[in-house]
Amino acid sequence: MTNKPWLDSTLPVENRVALLMEAMTTDEKIAQMVQISYSIVTPDEADEWARKGAGSFLHILGNNSRRIQRLATETRLGIPVIFGIDAIHGHAIHNGATVFPSQLALACSWNPELAEKMGEVTAREVAAEGLHWAFSPVFCLARDLRWGRVDETFGEDPFLAGKLGCAVVRGYQGDNPADDERIIACAKHYIAYGESTGGRDSYDSSVSMRTVRDIFLPPFAEAARAGCLTFMAGYEPIDRVPCSAHKKLLRDVLKDELGFSGFVVTDWSNLTSLIERHHLADNYEDGSRIAIEAGNDMIMTSPEFYEATRALIEKTAVDPTLIDDAVARILRVKFIAGLFDVPSKVKTLTLESDPDAKAAEAVFNCEAHQKINYESALASMVLLKNDEVGGKPALPVRGPAASGVPSVLPDGNARVVKTIAVIGPNADSVRAQFGDWTFFTHPVPHLDAIPELHVTTMLEGLQEAAAEQGVRVLYDKGCDIFDPAEETIGRACRLAKKADAVFVCVGDTLVQTGETHDRADLALSGAQDTLVEALSAVCAKRKTPLVSILVNGKPLEFERVVGASDAVFETFNSGTLGGRAAADILFGKAAPQGRLPVSFPRTTGQLPVYYNQIPGWHEGSYFDCESTPLFAFGEGITYTWFEYSDLRLSASTVSPEDTVQVSVTVTNTGACAATETVQLYATDHVASIVTPVRELKGFTKVHLERGETKTVTIDLPVESLAIVTPDEKRVVEPGTFSIQVGHDSRPDSLLSTVLTVQ
Ligand code: NOJ
Repeated sequence: MTNKPWLDSTLPVENRVALLMEAMTTDEKIAQMVQISYSIVTPDEADEWARKGAGSFLHILGNNSRRIQRLATETRLGIPVIFGIDAIHGHAIHNGATVFPSQLALACSWNPELAEKMGEVTAREVAAEGLHWAFSPVFCLARDLRWGRVDETFGEDPFLAGKLGCAVVRGYQGDNPADDERIIACAKHYIAYGESTGGRDSYDSSVSMRTVRDIFLPPFAEAARAGCLTFMAGYEPIDRVPCSAHKKLLRDVLKDELGFSGFVVTDWSNLTSLIERHHLADNYEDGSRIAIEAGNDMIMTSPEFYEATRALIEKTAVDPTLIDDAVARILRVKFIAGLFDVPSKVKTLTLESDPDAKAAEAVFNCEAHQKINYESALASMVLLKNDEVGGKPALPVRGPAASGVPSVLPDGNARVVKTIAVIGPNADSVRAQFGDWTFFTHPVPHLDAIPELHVTTMLEGLQEAAAEQGVRVLYDKGCDIFDPAEETIGRACRLAKKADAVFVCVGDTLVQTGETHDRADLALSGAQDTLVEALSAVCAKRKTPLVSILVNGKPLEFERVVGASDAVFETFNSGTLGGRAAADILFGKAAPQGRLPVSFPRTTGQLPVYYNQIPGWHEGSYFDCESTPLFAFGEGITYTWFEYSDLRLSASTVSPEDTVQVSVTVTNTGACAATETVQLYATDHVASIVTPVRELKGFTKVHLERGETKTVTIDLPVESLAIVTPDEKRVVEPGTFSIQVGHDSRPDSLLSTVLTVQ
């Protein structure tokens, strides 16, 4: 301890950081800023970097991380490595750990408490692996749906993304990130990544600083205020300045203005991109200087940074206090995360020789975690259409032997089926159901990997529910996700003729979604539309319902599917237990409760289709496309109906520093108990710039029994009505605003009243 005084855990973190920095050579400091991906170096190279004191590794699991940590702790100063991992929807890169619904799916829950629980589970599993840091939550907004990474977002709205993302940050970090079941969060990708032109991943986001501050910064600012300890700089340029070269955004806004004291990591090879893609520099010394000056603290996967920065220091071509600041930030996070104090955070024994390893690993996909995963999947699914067929809604269905099986509908109300047909390329596809960022795709694609955990696909879920209720299940794939398939469609139709209800699972699959998988055309691939329409013809003749189950990474062109189906049920990438959750809703054991966090286009050419657009487009629509989206932000129905009345404000004239209580009465007028998501929007009547048609400012969930009425209240801080002026100031302008509350973002779904701000 005496020669390592920073190990004294009774000292304040800042003193410990200073003591350690005093003991460090310049080379040791630069090495702390280096992050190595284990997936792209040889084991020997990795060991060499650990001995050199590299501050961090990513994409490393099991014994490899334990070996690297041992080498790091055996160095002169013994500074532990901080291990990062892409735990985006669960610690899903570890085959056998819990795979949650994607962020986009989870966003359908509009439920921050659930997002926090998902974060806690993920933290426990990542920590059990001996890792410390998840590269999530993703605070990007889904603005152009051609972008491959829409599935990773919490949807299109900054307010909703901020609330859900910060809940995940809480779930990961808790009150004390040093607790052995907590990890460090990373708010990414800073910033405006989802606005890349044409939905092209990592391409220029041509947005002004005004727009950045207005639309994209608020969720990140909330993350900084919530204590998120790291941020990741995006790949893309903002109006021609790459995020990792953007001093204004990294230093001035994030660090100085928002007071962020954690560290910024670049995205994958952002430094190399400054040279090879963006041509801001033609060598690593210039590139490294730009990256350091802009405010990147840790450099992911451009290890050339190390030698280049040593040379810069030697030539006094970079300010050494910038290096000190970066290293202090990294060490601060390592101290806060308990890496110097909590033995379980620094795993150095092999799995075989570590007596605690078995117990730690028992948490992977354990029963308690499956329970939260099931809850998440259940809350993530959105019923979008449920028309009557033969005098009864298409859903839910119930089997002849269902007595004793719990149902949300009073007996006799559900449609009784004896035989169902389950059809479609995504009915039994683990890959489509998982989506991106699992062991199938990262750190290197293993599309043929065999899952080491039991996955309930849509087919299996329906089979289980059917077996419980005495229903026979017929299955046919119907068509492949890509190929034309007249013959197989004919076969599926023959099967459909034997069923009392048909469930068809369509959507996309792994290669059509995710990073570097942008799409120019969001039409359903292969013969999927044809399959659904052919089944629709069979069902219409027989007066049996056709239910489309959507298994997809992001909104696609579903207009034909919706037109042909009696019911439409969106499940996105629902994770390990998606099939069970879906079946429980379709068979009426649970009521649907999800709401869309993203608008659905009718056709790709209608993009962008997000709800919070500005007015002013002549005639407001394309000549050849309806003006409304196929499904609007906030939409989603259930097995009952809700009526809204009596919208009230606690005060109708207020000042910018006030908070208004907005109350509304909601009544469940239908046949079953269910949960409603009450949404609050605001529209500025007159402002000094053009403002959106409406913007989400609050929401809450309320559970209502049949016939029950409740009054709910949502706080509206008047400050949240601020605009951002062309000179980048946030101001609340006096005037009137309409305050709208209701079921979703469509004007007809909302009650409205006027608030005056003095
Ligand atoms: C690139 C991705 O953009 C980012 O989200 C991820 O965390 C890093 N690679 C590390 O895998």
